[in-house]
Amino acid sequence: MANHQTFISYYIVLILVPFVWSSNTLTANQILSISSNLTMISPGNVFELGFFKLAGSNTKEDGERWYLGLWFYKASSKMNPLWVANRESPLYDSKGALKIYKSNLVIVNQSGNIIWSSSNAVVPSPPKTSSVVAELLSNGNFVLRYSGDNRGDSFLWESFDYPTDTLLPGSDLAKGVNRSLTSWISNNNPSTGIYALLSKNQEMFLLDAKSSPVYRRSFGLKTPYALGNGYYLQVTYDGLLQQFPTTREKTLIWHAPRDDCDRYGLTCGSNSVCSLEKVDVHEVAGCTCFKGFKPRNWWRWWLRSMTEGCQKISRLNCTGNGFQVLKNVKLPDTKDAGVERSIGPKECRQRCIEDCSCTGFANVELDCFLYSSDLVDLRTLQSGQQLYIKVATSYLDLLIDGDRTDSYEVVAARVQRIEFLTIAEATNEFCDSNILGKGGFGTVYKGKLVEGTDIAVKRLTRMSDSGTSQFLNEVNLISELQHFNVISLLGYCFHSDEHILVFEYHANRSLDLYIFGSTESSKLSWKIRHKIIKGIARGMTYLHHDSCVTIIHRDLKVSNILLDKDMNPKISDFGISRLVSRDHIQTNTNKVSGTRGYIAPECWSDKIFTKKTDVFSFGVVILEIISGKANYKFTNSKGETSLLTCMWRNWEEESLLEVVDPSIMDSSSSPLTMIQIVRYTQIGLLCIQNIPQDRPTMSSLVVMFESSTELPRPKPPVYFNSDTTYSTFEIGSTSMSTTMSSLVRTEYSTRHTYNVLPCVNVRNFNRASSV
Ligand SMILES: *[C@@H]1O[C@H](CO)[C@@H](O)[C@H](O)[C@H]1NC(C)=O
Ligand SMILES: *[C@@H]1O[C@H](CO)[C@@H](O)[C@H](O)[C@H]1NC(C)=O
Ligand SMILES: *[C@@H]1O[C@H](CO)[C@@H](O)[C@H](O)[C@H]1NC(C)=O
Ligand SMILES: *[C@@H]1O[C@H](CO)[C@@H](O)[C@H](O)[C@H]1NC(C)=O
Ligand SMILES: *[C@@H]1O[C@H](CO)[C@@H](O)[C@H](O)[C@H]1NC(C)=O
Repeated sequence: MANHQTFISYYIVLILVPFVWSSNTLTANQILSISSNLTMISPGNVFELGFFKLAGSNTKEDGERWYLGLWFYKASSKMNPLWVANRESPLYDSKGALKIYKSNLVIVNQSGNIIWSSSNAVVPSPPKTSSVVAELLSNGNFVLRYSGDNRGDSFLWESFDYPTDTLLPGSDLAKGVNRSLTSWISNNNPSTGIYALLSKNQEMFLLDAKSSPVYRRSFGLKTPYALGNGYYLQVTYDGLLQQFPTTREKTLIWHAPRDDCDRYGLTCGSNSVCSLEKVDVHEVAGCTCFKGFKPRNWWRWWLRSMTEGCQKISRLNCTGNGFQVLKNVKLPDTKDAGVERSIGPKECRQRCIEDCSCTGFANVELDCFLYSSDLVDLRTLQSGQQLYIKVATSYLDLLIDGDRTDSYEVVAARVQRIEFLTIAEATNEFCDSNILGKGGFGTVYKGKLVEGTDIAVKRLTRMSDSGTSQFLNEVNLISELQHFNVISLLGYCFHSDEHILVFEYHANRSLDLYIFGSTESSKLSWKIRHKIIKGIARGMTYLHHDSCVTIIHRDLKVSNILLDKDMNPKISDFGISRLVSRDHIQTNTNKVSGTRGYIAPECWSDKIFTKKTDVFSFGVVILEIISGKANYKFTNSKGETSLLTCMWRNWEEESLLEVVDPSIMDSSSSPLTMIQIVRYTQIGLLCIQNIPQDRPTMSSLVVMFESSTELPRPKPPVYFNSDTTYSTFEIGSTSMSTTMSSLVRTEYSTRHTYNVLPCVNVRNFNRASSV
């Protein structure tokens, strides 16, 4: 930059023209020096151009620095200038000046060296009758032109071509040579920082240090890059795009990126729409595939890693395509889009139909945007635009019919909503051979996703329309639960009156298949059984005490315990009883949901489910696991019809070996095994105590299994059998009649046998082998 000739000319000018002026032009024989304290002011007193100072740290190298800049007329010095000429080469003292030298604008320092020049190019000398002048225009553009030229656009140079971090109204990023904004490096250093704003494919992109998009602004598509009058845009040093009104007061009216949906490619991949969901007090970004599309990778999608985006469920047949409309969205990136001017919506649509590679279109005023690849960077926006996405008509009919209530502005649940068609495909259209189990709540199918993942699909019994919001509430609730011994919900679906839950599939299916299956039971050693019992206790403790909400299972039973490939128990079907039974409860208040053999006695009279009723069911499960017998159909040679009474008697008589599942006691059993079995039986008996207060809590059960502390003695169980329309309490043992009669007196009546009014329709309690 050093130029010895400048040295001379600078002093010549300085000496010859001791000039003071207040105008918006600088002629070839004038200078604007720092020491003069003068500035140039645009017509209309909007902008002011002059030297300004930024204080550095105290080291000499980083002392005060002087720059030539533009700011709003009389703006506070706290407001950073809108344009900086010599952003990379400040003056380090207050001795310097701006002038015109060889038809260029230059800034010289005290020793006359040029430290900044508007251009390195040699500008042709002006015609004889003319000279070069610099002028600050009313829009803030600082230009160099021939004095003879009557304005117009024929500038020799203009500051709008070299913006710093601010785009002023009237400037246009798409015009001129590479116009782009670059952030300051820090709040008090205007040299080039890491963020840039440039226009590409008719849109604005905010780029980071790696030139990757951070944010894309598609606005006012008609004149996409110019700002509306009265506003300017600024890129902050820390990567925000901000918009302010063109006033001295810096009032932020808009900024981006505002949230995770704004961040380009951060949250959602292609062919999906990003929207914000309210989770408690937080807003969380989530993605929804377009209709007729599905996640490229379900697993990662379910883990909420959605950047891989979605793909078409089936290939489009070029002849039979329709469009789904997305309202109020930010239009996708136009990088692969064609634009046809002056075309109305009808013709735009027609062009997309005729072009097999067209994936969608949008019509903004009379501009038709035809997309030809995956659609990226979409989000819901309150005052967004309409996008038409091509789908096979077969999907369209189905989806429009079934998903009337759907809206892209609402994502209802935290887990993924899955297309009905995807589920139908995975289960081979709910083929009977894929049924894993059937129960009161619906049918469970095994499914296989296209990429090979196994799933368990629970197709709930049909619910009324109003059941959908209840269903979604429940889905949200279940999806919150994360515990090793509690099954994970992967997704849900509702479609017309279908309500479907999708769970992990567990290879070894459910516990009942092992303990009640004569051949399979040999596979369950005591080691595995006691691991299962402890696992259930941990999972139930989580549901009762540790999860965000208290969950009463209401239907704990061996067939609701699933086993993973390592035989770890996973509790399933919690809460669902509430979901499905709600409608029933209104029509028939006499029904008690639950499963015969597992229902605590107080449920029959009070019809109230509590944590302690779950403990009762768990007690039955423990005793079933130990005995290998199902309580609900138990009989033995002694005429006992209750597993619970039988187990209690044998425990009391210390003859437990008679009722323990023979396949537990193999050659590897040690005396320790038997001690453990006795203790676990005792714990099981404590769970089935008649009075709820006598039953331990789930969390105390976990401690009982782990420790060897002394346990209370269980009282004999009171059991009633609901095989018939009469339900009969049966007293455990006649030898205990003294104890029993007092129990019965306080709890029910003085009679040993007690008839309960038929409050349950037994047929509703098919044993549900549910997954
Ligand atoms: C310019 O301003 C400074 C500080 O305000 C002052 O010291 C100096 O005398 C002024 N110079 C002229 C030429 O007015
Ligand atoms: C002027 O600028 C030149 C070149 O950058 C530099 O060598 C010189 O020291 C500067 N003079 C003053 C007084 O700052
Ligand atoms: C514009 O930018 C490109 C790439 O950054 C560069 O190669 C080219 O020289 C620039 N043109 C001008 C006139 O600055
Ligand atoms: C596309 O649809 C038309 C009419 O529905 C049908 O005749 C044709 O076979 C289909 N082509 C393919 C590749 O599916
Ligand atoms: C459980 O499933 C795994 C994987 O399918 C299998 O290897 C294992 O043998 C099964 N265990 C039992 C007891 O069936």
